Amino acid sequence: MLNFNFYAPARILFGKGEESRVGELLKPRAKKVLLHYGGGSVKKSGLYERIAASLTSSGVAFVELGGVMPNPRLSLVHEGIDLCRREQVDFILAVGGGSVIDSSKAIAMGVYYDGDVWNLYESGAAIERALPVATVLTIPAAGSESSGDTVVTNEAKQLKYGYGSPLLRPVFSVLNPELFFTLPKAQLGYGVADMMSHVFERYFTNTTHTDLTDGLCEATLKTLMKNAPAALKDMRDYDAWSELGFAGTVAHNGLVGMGREQDWACHGMEHELSAIYDIAHGAGLAVLTPGWMRYVYRDNIEMFVQFAVNVMGVDGSFRDPDALVEEGISRLAAFFARLGLPGSLRDLDIDETRLEEMAKKATGAAFGEERPIGGLKKLRWQDVLAIYRMVL
Ligand code: NZQ
Ligand code: ZN
Repeated sequence: MLNFNFYAPARILFGKGEESRVGELLKPRAKKVLLHYGGGSVKKSGLYERIAASLTSSGVAFVELGGVMPNPRLSLVHEGIDLCRREQVDFILAVGGGSVIDSSKAIAMGVYYDGDVWNLYESGAAIERALPVATVLTIPAAGSESSGDTVVTNEAKQLKYGYGSPLLRPVFSVLNPELFFTLPKAQLGYGVADMMSHVFERYFTNTTHTDLTDGLCEATLKTLMKNAPAALKDMRDYDAWSELGFAGTVAHNGLVGMGREQDWACHGMEHELSAIYDIAHGAGLAVLTPGWMRYVYRDNIEMFVQFAVNVMGVDGSFRDPDALVEEGISRLAAFFARLGLPGSLRDLDIDETRLEEMAKKATGAAFGEERPIGGLKKLRWQDVLAIYRMVL
């Protein structure tokens, strides 16, 4: 196990009706709030009305900015920064999914940054201040409700970059599984693929003596795989959504990755896809993950045998580990297919044209400073290109 430093202060308010407490919780913390939301689902579901009523009845003043799109755009972040400065906003409330939360975090740090906030995504320079952010989560997926990360698309440059700081961890996040009932079925699949990937990025490692976190990762993955089909069958299954929602937060609040080298190659490769083709993040991960597994597993076959047996329930001979691993990967791909997820880049209308460009961008080779990605196996741009081609 490696040295680690774990601190995940986001307060999670779990359960029915918790969103009605936002006014009471914000009253002592905020003079004026920016209420930030997406393309309209919160208005359709009535959630917007309930949040606005909670703020008003507690006497919390607010201004609002809607219109966040999946793969949140830098241009709206700029608009939000201007609005917060003009209105002297001192707290941001994100009501939505990962895109709304990430846009909120970008605005939160941009307000205090003297220059284009995009510079921070490019340089990774540490910030010293950010407005506090709280969230009301409407889709279990990105884990942004408990992470200190934000991922934003610079639509002019066709780049999608992440940035992380402890200052960006939400102060609190409401996680009411009933708010997930209105999700389209496709979003359930995207969310589950993303949550599983957040575990995979930490689980597949060369670090040894990680029994506790191995077990936490495996339990999180099995919880997701058990409850996703139940929620898909009945989109109002509170118990199934509860398990998915809690698992999504555990998958990405940092705990299951402590003390182990992490990977993150699939996320790096996926962000290139969603930057250029504007696809759902989870859809890209569902396509890439089985291909990545097949490309890298021989570098640490024991880890992939463990996955096949402990997570995918494969019962086979340890004398043929390749067959065991392949069975585990095939079962994962079949599970993704059952959730209605795409199985190839062509399913996402992506062809060969820009694969090399994306492989070079993902590894930095396009910018003259190649930094191989991944932990379990270091991938250069030629490796990334090979994986893109495997899943074409
Ligand atoms: O915009 P609205 O109308 O609200 O519709 C959204 C959107 O179209 C809809 N939706 C959300 N909740 C709903 C709902 N529709 C009906 N009922 C509800 N309850 O779902 C669509 C997708 O929303 P989005 O916020 O984009 O989804 P998600 O939470 O999957 O977030 C994806 C983004 O998070 C980033 C991804 O790259 C992507 O940009 N990530 C952020 C991370 C982080 N900050 O820590 C880590 C992740 O790895 C990920 O990269
Ligand atoms: Zn993700």
